[in-house]
Amino acid sequence: MSFPILTAEEAASFINNGMALGLSGFTASGAPKDTFDAVAAKAAVEHEAGRPFKVDIFTGASTNRHVDGALSLVNAIGRRTPYQNTPDLRKRINAHDAHYFDLHLSELAQKLRYGFYGPLDIAVIEAVDVQPDGRLVLGTGAGIAPTIAKMAKHIIIELNSAISTKLEGLHDLYLPADPPHRREIPIYNVNDRIGSPYLYVDPKKVIGIVKTHCTDEVHPFTAVDETSAKIGANVCEFLVSELRKGHLPKEFLPLQSGVGNVANAVLYGLADAHEIPPFSFYTEVAQDAVLDLMERDRCRYVSTCSLTMSDEAQARLFAHDHEFCRRITIRPSELSNNPEIIRRLGVIAMNTALEADIFGAINSTHVLGTKMMNGIGGSGDFTRNAYLSIFSCPSVTKGGCISNIVPMVAHQDHSEHSVDVLVTDQGIADLRGLDPVQRAERIIENCAHPDYRPLLREYLKMGAGQTPHSLKSSFAFHNAFNETGDMRNAKL
Ligand code: COA
Repeated sequence: MSFPILTAEEAASFINNGMALGLSGFTASGAPKDTFDAVAAKAAVEHEAGRPFKVDIFTGASTNRHVDGALSLVNAIGRRTPYQNTPDLRKRINAHDAHYFDLHLSELAQKLRYGFYGPLDIAVIEAVDVQPDGRLVLGTGAGIAPTIAKMAKHIIIELNSAISTKLEGLHDLYLPADPPHRREIPIYNVNDRIGSPYLYVDPKKVIGIVKTHCTDEVHPFTAVDETSAKIGANVCEFLVSELRKGHLPKEFLPLQSGVGNVANAVLYGLADAHEIPPFSFYTEVAQDAVLDLMERDRCRYVSTCSLTMSDEAQARLFAHDHEFCRRITIRPSELSNNPEIIRRLGVIAMNTALEADIFGAINSTHVLGTKMMNGIGGSGDFTRNAYLSIFSCPSVTKGGCISNIVPMVAHQDHSEHSVDVLVTDQGIADLRGLDPVQRAERIIENCAHPDYRPLLREYLKMGAGQTPHSLKSSFAFHNAFNETGDMRNAKL
């Protein structure tokens, strides 16, 4: 069967107000592109004519300027899950224009299949190759593609000629059976492959193909700043000491690393920590730093949900011989973030917090407790099931006016039960085996900024009970920032 070729506008004509759409990709990698510029243009025309136009977007994680960016500008997103990081969408979410529900990334595909969010009208899937029998080679992110291909009533394929066809063979696509028939997922080593390199879609469901030539446009990271470099060095020092103590096997264990400056600094630190043997990643995003580590023979193997690499790094990766590609597997988020596999492999999770409290609870998502920043992403999937869970953040933000260590987090994403180690630019707090007061003392002395230590010590003396919060003063830091612009003015 040969599929009709559509312009992006023709594809957009099939997408109507109120539809639920499933999109390929994970981060900007592998997400559709031109079709959504056309959908946004259609939404603008509809709004201009006084007609409603919003669509629900279900995809692997965040997307790109064409989807979340363009649609948010014209207020055309209804429901959205499971993660986002676009300034315009963030504004829409915090203004209640877009109904965002923040979800553990590993859970979306199965919850869609369970029917919790209703049917999917159309899946829009980016591919770098399409065969007439419906065999696709996906782009750089697998996300929830197998599930949306199965569930959606219709499929639009975006065939992207700007992304390398050398991706063929890198994907490992697999759909677990749903309960009560689910068995163990047979990944026992980071490099085990259990599925198909191809996504097979039902040709009868395909509306047509939109030809696109547009890169993923992932921004290369800015140089690591001084604070991030200190945090990175502290995390590396901690991992080396764990290896020396025999808390980690001598072969080391697979790493998961979050996104951002700090995560990057940690990875560059690991490149130079030669006591640590070459290691693997079992993670959800492989960034430019991962390629650098491969090129320096520090990274043996990467299992990921996406190659979230800048255009330059993608070009470098695919210019290498096939040896490099043989060391990469791209899996759906249901596998890359799967609790069973993370626990089995003994993944070391390294994630970033917006703020932590003195007892070890973490806020990853809500600025000052109310405004959504990005979302929980995979941090819960990894943190909760890791061999060792490390959170890091700067000790202070906004020139010292915000302490990232507070008496009580104003929103809690990860409880103290899931956090083994907290690291800031000030130092390391190993929280394992400590009771709440011991944890608080260690966090205050090792991780808090010196400007805030006296206030935090005072707070710790105020309460009673095993976890001595003073409910009267728990949010004194946040209130001081809201009222005076500086947490140092907190009145306990
Ligand atoms: N209170 C208020 N604002 C804060 C803050 C706090 N405690 N901590 C940071 N901020 C502000 C920063 O000042 C910055 O503001 P700006 O954009 O105006 O400059 C912004 O929040 C982002 O901070 P930054 O230090 O640049 O963060 P980052 O890029 O390292 O990202 C998270 C940190 C927490 C937002 C990010 O890691 C995230 O979204 N995590 C959740 C998802 C996740 O962990 N996924 C798992 C693996 S991919």
